[in-house]
Amino acid sequence: TTNREAYRPVYHHTPLWGWMNDPNGMFYKDGVWNLYYQFNPYGSIWGNMTWGHATSRDLVHWQYEGTPIEPDDLGTIFSGSAIVDSSNTAGFGKNAIVAMYTSAAESQTQSLAYSNDGGKTFTKYSGNPTLTAKEPDFRDPKMIWNEATKEWNLVMATGQKMNFYSSKDLKNWKYESSFGEGYGCHKGVWECPDLMQMSNGKWVLICNINPGGPYGGSATQYFVGQWDGHQFTCESKPEVTKWMDYGKDHYATVTFSNAPDGRHVALPWMSNWQYAAVVPTLQYRSGNGIPRDLGIFTDEGEEYLSVKPSPEIMKAFNKKASSLGDACMIEVSGLRRNATIELSNGKGERVVMRYDAAEKSFSVDRMKSGKTDFSEVFPAVTSAPTHGKASRVLIFIDKCSVEVFDGDGKFALTNLVFPTKPYDKLSVKGGKAKIWKLK
Ligand code: FRU
Repeated sequence: TTNREAYRPVYHHTPLWGWMNDPNGMFYKDGVWNLYYQFNPYGSIWGNMTWGHATSRDLVHWQYEGTPIEPDDLGTIFSGSAIVDSSNTAGFGKNAIVAMYTSAAESQTQSLAYSNDGGKTFTKYSGNPTLTAKEPDFRDPKMIWNEATKEWNLVMATGQKMNFYSSKDLKNWKYESSFGEGYGCHKGVWECPDLMQMSNGKWVLICNINPGGPYGGSATQYFVGQWDGHQFTCESKPEVTKWMDYGKDHYATVTFSNAPDGRHVALPWMSNWQYAAVVPTLQYRSGNGIPRDLGIFTDEGEEYLSVKPSPEIMKAFNKKASSLGDACMIEVSGLRRNATIELSNGKGERVVMRYDAAEKSFSVDRMKSGKTDFSEVFPAVTSAPTHGKASRVLIFIDKCSVEVFDGDGKFALTNLVFPTKPYDKLSVKGGKAKIWKLK
C-alpha cells in the first residue's frame, strides 16, 4: 500500500494507518524521543480517541509502538502530557513516566496513567479522575516541573483562558490562577497549552487556538512574560498577538518534556481543523511538522520565540543534490530585496515564495499548488513578518509539505501542498540556492 501513498512523507512522522491529530505526552529519556498522539485506529477521520505511540532516536526515523492508552469507562482519551518522575513524587515508582490526559465523556475530566517500562505500557491510576471543573471545555493538561518552587505545575486549557495549578505529588492539584482575559487572540477556543522558561529567564505560555488563526482555522499563539509558580504575567500589551508559525498547517504544537541540554523541542500537528478530514491521502490522515527548537529574540522592544529546524534534522540533510526531489531541503542565501523562489512541475502547478524587504514579509502562495479543490479555504497565500532583514531561508519539502524557516529562526511558515506530480523545477530570483538531500 505504501507505493500508492503518493503523499506519505519520508522524514516526517505519520501514523501507519488511521487518523492522527495532536501530539501528546511527548518526553525524552535515555536517548529516545517518545511521541504519543491523538489516534483513531479505526478510520482516517477523527473518533475513538486513543493515544498512539511512536519512538525515535534521531527525530527522523520513527517506530510505531502501539496504543498504550485506550478509552475506558471514563471516556475516550484526549490530549495531555507526560513527565519523567525521577524522584518518585507520585509514588508510582522511581523514574516512572506519569501521563495526564483528558477523559472525554459528557464532561471533560483529567486522569493519570503511569509507566514503569519507559513509556511502552501504562497502568491507569485507580483514583481517576484526578481533576474536574465546571467549564465544559477543560482539557489538554500540561505538567511541568518548577525548579524554583520544587513543585509540579499544571496548565489547563479552560474555554478561552488557561488555568494554572500546583502539586507536590501529581495527584492532588491546587488551583492557583488563570490567565487570558483580554490578552491575545480570542476568536476561538484555547487548546493544548505549554509553559517553559527560556534561556534569558523569561517564561513563554503557548496557547493553541481554533479557529482564529492568522489565515483562518487553527494556529499557535504565545505570550512572553513571568511565571512565579502561582501566576502568569504577560509583558506585552493585551492587544499584542504573537504567532509561532504563519502557515496554515501548524497546530496543537507543544514541546518534549525532559529534553536534553535545556532544549525546547516543539512538534506541530501539520494540518488545520478547517480541512484535516478531507485532505487527499489514502490510508491515513495527517503527519507532524518537522521538530523545531525554540529560543527567544528581541525586535523593537518585544520578545518573540525563535523557531529553528532541530539540529537532528539539519544533520540528516548532508548530501548535495543537483536537482529538486520530492523529499529535500533547499537553502537559499543572499536573499535580495524582492527575491522570489518558485517550485513547479510540468502541469503548471506551483508554490511561489516572495521576500518583500520593504514590507518586511515573507509569503508562501499555494493557490495553484496542485489539488486544492477538496476545501474552499485550502488555496491561500500565507505571509510572515520577517522582524528585520531576511538573508537566508531553509525550505523543507516532503511529498505534501513545504516548511519555510528563516535562517536565524525569526519566522516560520508550515504549509501542506498536494501537487499531482512532484515539483521538479526550482527557479530562484534574487538569491543563491543549494539543494540538500537526506544521507
Ligand atoms: C485540539 C483538540 C484538543 C483535544 C483533542 C481531541 O486539536 O481539540 O483540545 O484534546 O483535539 O482530539
